[in-house]
Amino acid sequence: MTRYAHIIGWGHAVPDQVLTNDDLAQRVDTSDEWIRTRTGIRERRIAAPDEYTSTLATRAASEALRMAGVHPREVDLIVVATNTGDYIFPATAALVQDALGASRAGGFDIQAACTGFVYALTIASDMIKAGSIHTALVIGAETLSRIVDWEDRNTCVLFGDAAGAFVLQAADEPGGVLHSVLRADGSGADLLKLPTCGTRNPVSHEALERRMQYMHMNGREVFRFATRVMNSATREVVEKAGLTLDDIAWIAPHQANRRIIEAAAKALKRPMDHFLLNLDRYGNTSTASIPLAIYEAAQAGRIRPGQYGVLVAFGAGLIWGAALVQWTGPRPTRAARPRPRWHRVASKAGSWLRRARRYVEGRLTR
Ligand code: COA
Repeated sequence: MTRYAHIIGWGHAVPDQVLTNDDLAQRVDTSDEWIRTRTGIRERRIAAPDEYTSTLATRAASEALRMAGVHPREVDLIVVATNTGDYIFPATAALVQDALGASRAGGFDIQAACTGFVYALTIASDMIKAGSIHTALVIGAETLSRIVDWEDRNTCVLFGDAAGAFVLQAADEPGGVLHSVLRADGSGADLLKLPTCGTRNPVSHEALERRMQYMHMNGREVFRFATRVMNSATREVVEKAGLTLDDIAWIAPHQANRRIIEAAAKALKRPMDHFLLNLDRYGNTSTASIPLAIYEAAQAGRIRPGQYGVLVAFGAGLIWGAALVQWTGPRPTRAARPRPRWHRVASKAGSWLRRARRYVEGRLTR
């Protein structure tokens, strides 16, 4: 029997601190008018010092699990798409697993720049369809404010911090994540990158002096690439599903620049109100941008069961991709089961006990 991977819960997390265009104009040579007209962004959220990618991811995941009525112990796999994981390793997914008390889950991170959520969704849904797992958490989470050069007006006006999460679960009824198109072209690797902190240019005084620990971008070239692939990837995934663009009720584009989305709308001959947009309030939140836009649209009742939608993204790499979904929504038969407080306390206590046991065992076997 064919198995499907339904999206049965969604959640989000955004930091409280709002950074407006006017605030930015006090730091670098820019203006609210320039940012609004060139990008469509009005403000973005910035993580507090004690907020990390893993804490935003955990909050978004908890909300998604609550909505789905799924207990953390029922989760088989956690995939975190991120470019700003808490560490290069361990994976942020492991930190989220521990914080949630998802005691039976495996987890890993995926780094495919701003297309990471589309890749993560594809991997998790394909594992569900193949029968190797039943329930997955797919999370896009970023604290980009930590890798943005706040002295570079070309980049610092664009990005923000956030997280979005989906719960995927196996189902027999058609629907959920149906098809994907995943593409890469490494010849464009120099157009957008974080030059140091990896192994090619390890952190050094010289690298820090050259501000290589921050994002570097050729905005014009990325813009040209983005407008081209938003169109081609959307068309390809719709064709792969045997549908036409007229069958698609909404498109959730990566929220990088309103003008990129307008160009895609023109090329696809779709009206702008077909696109789920919130970049005016959050800026580009990379892997979080698509689940966050879908979260808000679903909460507002703009997305309805049965509708076909396309998620389309692009980013550094160059990497791009699209996924076609048929919206299903939470299982009607499962009442929302809030995550019991005792489970949160018990899983934290369990985590400390495991640390303590590791310490004691280490001392005894020394
Ligand atoms: N405020 C004021 N002026 C700015 C500015 C800012 N924040 N950033 C750049 N400028 C200036 C440039 O220095 C340039 O000045 P110059 O002509 O004197 O050299 C001028 O504005 C025009 O620059 P340009 O790069 O042509 O602007 P643009 O219309 O292409 O917009 C971006 C710049 C970055 C907004 C746009 O190229 C873009 O969105 N690119 C895609 C970036 C992206 O999506 N990255 C993430 C991918 S996941």
